[in-house]
Amino acid sequence: MILKNDLLLRAARGEKTERIPVWLMRQAGRILPEYRAVRASLSGFKELVETPDRAAEVTIQPVDILGVDAAIIFSDILVVSEGMGLRYEMEEKKGPYFPQTIENPQDIERLRTGKAEDFHYTLDAIRITKKALDGRVPLIGFAGAPFTLLCYMVEGGGSKTFSKSKRLLFSDPDSAKKLLQKITDTTIAYLRGQVEAGADLIQVFDSWAGILSPQAYEEFSLPYMRQICEAIPDRPVTLFAKGAFYARKSLAALPCSVIGTDWNMPPQESRQLVGNKTLQGNLDPCILYGSEKFITEQTHAMIREFGAQKYIANLGHGVYPDTDPMKVKHFVETVQNFDIQSLEAL
Ligand code: CP3
Repeated sequence: MILKNDLLLRAARGEKTERIPVWLMRQAGRILPEYRAVRASLSGFKELVETPDRAAEVTIQPVDILGVDAAIIFSDILVVSEGMGLRYEMEEKKGPYFPQTIENPQDIERLRTGKAEDFHYTLDAIRITKKALDGRVPLIGFAGAPFTLLCYMVEGGGSKTFSKSKRLLFSDPDSAKKLLQKITDTTIAYLRGQVEAGADLIQVFDSWAGILSPQAYEEFSLPYMRQICEAIPDRPVTLFAKGAFYARKSLAALPCSVIGTDWNMPPQESRQLVGNKTLQGNLDPCILYGSEKFITEQTHAMIREFGAQKYIANLGHGVYPDTDPMKVKHFVETVQNFDIQSLEAL
């Protein structure tokens, strides 16, 4: 199918674009009343994830309502651990938790390596979404990075210090690597399934990367990120390691297309570190609490720093749930109306 708007894919491949593509991490769900209405018609978040036509519906909502240049499939990074035999629950307003966690090497042994079919609901949602989008914008598939998944499976939820996860890494690195490899194998099967179902670009979220030192990141995250990139040679891959400002150069050395950045990572410094790869990011989501005038100024300043090419505008993390959708729309339109010739003439 020919895409009517392929700005995201051209920017990801490093090709010239006539304007800057923009989308928001966590745009599906979280902020839209239309999303909450769909979720309220079901038993909750998990049923929505596992009901393909409704998941497709909320995937497309931000394209219709916010006018973004890409859709991201509605699912969660935690489906991978569930496919491996470790169930998660989603508690309203509190977030995810795991009734059972990984506590010892036997628990790791017991986990299965998931196959693409274990995630049939998300793969079906991708097929339905692609059909319904009818080429309007590209569809992004995604997964969590193996390290971030390990954190959830060991901690059982979020954490302030992640000491249980780090205890596993530093006291029993062999077991940690066994777990990371099992998660990686499952993630690759899942992402291959997403590509075959129609995902146009794949993003890997390493949300807890910022808790590691550069050395620990080299040992416990990068090798697995590499395997994922190598398994997807046929689609652009975006690597987003939140907080890992120190890892930009090493991530850009992997066979990926785009490096996601947060607001702690200065755009011009990122450009120097990533060579000719495309950058994505990096507005602080809290900027969207400001006035429209403030959002315009901050967005323009961000674009001037990144430059107009090899760039995908986004926030530096997922949009926060209490953000006014009209402010999000304003951010999207500010990027889309930006006259890139004014930059290129400089
Ligand atoms: O980007 C999108 O809109 C697509 C869907 C998507 C969700 N989760 C849906 C969701 C994506 C890409 C994710 C990724 C995800 N999930 C990450 C990585 C990105 C990041 O923010 O760092 C992480 C760490 C998770 C784990 C997770 N899922 C948490 C911590 C929570 C609770 C609080 C929250 O909203 O983040 C979730 C629940 C979740 N996943 C919701 C949505 C729309 C909210 C549940 C609801 O209220 O319906």
